[in-house]
Amino acid sequence: MRVAAFTDLTGPNGVTIVERPDPEPGPGEAVVDVEACAINRHDLRILEGDSAMVDTDDLPFVSGLDVAGTVADVGDGVTAVEPGDRVVLCPNETCGQCRFCREGPENQCERYSLFHGGLAEAACVRADRLLPLPESVATTTAAALPTAYMTAYRMLQRAQAGPGDLVFVPGATGGVGVASVQLAAVLGARTVGTSSSAAKLDRPADLGLDHGVQGTDPDELRESVGAVGTPDAILNHLGGPYTELGLDLVRRGGRMVICGRTAGSRSEFDVPDLFLGHRRVIGSTMGTQGDLEMLVDLVATGDLAPEVEDTYPLAATGEAFAAMQDRGAVGKPLVTN
Ligand SMILES: NC(=O)c1ccc[n+]([C@@H]2O[C@H](COP(=O)([O-])OP(=O)(O)OC[C@H]3O[C@@H](n4cnc5c(N)ncnc54)[C@H](OP(=O)(O)O)[C@@H]3O)[C@@H](O)[C@H]2O)c1
Ligand SMILES: [Zn+2]
Repeated sequence: MRVAAFTDLTGPNGVTIVERPDPEPGPGEAVVDVEACAINRHDLRILEGDSAMVDTDDLPFVSGLDVAGTVADVGDGVTAVEPGDRVVLCPNETCGQCRFCREGPENQCERYSLFHGGLAEAACVRADRLLPLPESVATTTAAALPTAYMTAYRMLQRAQAGPGDLVFVPGATGGVGVASVQLAAVLGARTVGTSSSAAKLDRPADLGLDHGVQGTDPDELRESVGAVGTPDAILNHLGGPYTELGLDLVRRGGRMVICGRTAGSRSEFDVPDLFLGHRRVIGSTMGTQGDLEMLVDLVATGDLAPEVEDTYPLAATGEAFAAMQDRGAVGKPLVTN
């Protein structure tokens, strides 16, 4: 089989298509013929040499978390799926033993990790992490769901966002950003979101973004986003200066949930504003397999249509990462076979 391997960690030119032996499932495993795998900034960060999870000793490395396709083969003891089933993978890897695995939520597992290996023609995965897809859910649609939509959904839960709330989404045009806008709308919340590009805001506007604000300068955004209203919650996947911006804007008693650091790993903010205003800053990573099941159901009932604007054949995986690096992508880019 062919895989899109990272052969150096200097950016999108480091992706090389290489041949690997076809995988054989071990006990409890299934081999999935990959029809689509979404790419995330997580993969790009690995490819840029900016991830603690992968270094040059691990090369060649096959990334790709969000696998959807058809089960080709199963190992001993697998009963949940069988060859021919269309499935999506929950990429959570958990220990099954810590208190969060026992009592939940599993995404807080003390030894939490992620599956990598979906940028390939086939992937060998834990069978109990596969969810069968209803007929009405396309495989390519399902591939968009795991990382971006699970993460956004959990962030909305942690932010206690509900009907009528105003949710601020800095960076509303990417994977987590668009997912946040769409899922906030499902919950009956209103959204205000930003982008450096006015043109890129057209698509999230079609998908339910109530107020799009173009801009990158935090001082200008403080005024233009503040003019829309006082957010009850902030879903912050950018970090850096957007943390202080969010805390300046969020209402007294409001919540900011942070899942990422695209704009910087360090943030400064005014400590008295935090405690005198009873504001909360909450960290969040991914979601649970139950969240993914619920998201598949939302797609099946027609309440959610994940945004897939661009698809790339496996051989063009490097181009998909280049588009993400150049900030050309909207929603979830997919690599397809
Ligand atoms: N902790 C978790 O579980 C988890 C899960 C998923 C994602 N994440 C993190 O969340 C972030 C988003 O991931 P993603 O896959 O959704 O990425 P993505 O699709 O590449 O996100 C693109 C968005 O980020 C904005 N952006 C890009 N570079 C920027 C910069 N330098 N300054 C300000 N805005 C910038 C873009 O704005 P423009 O429209 O202006 O280009 C766009 O709105 C990443 O940091 C990722 O690692 C964390
Ligand atoms: Zn655990």
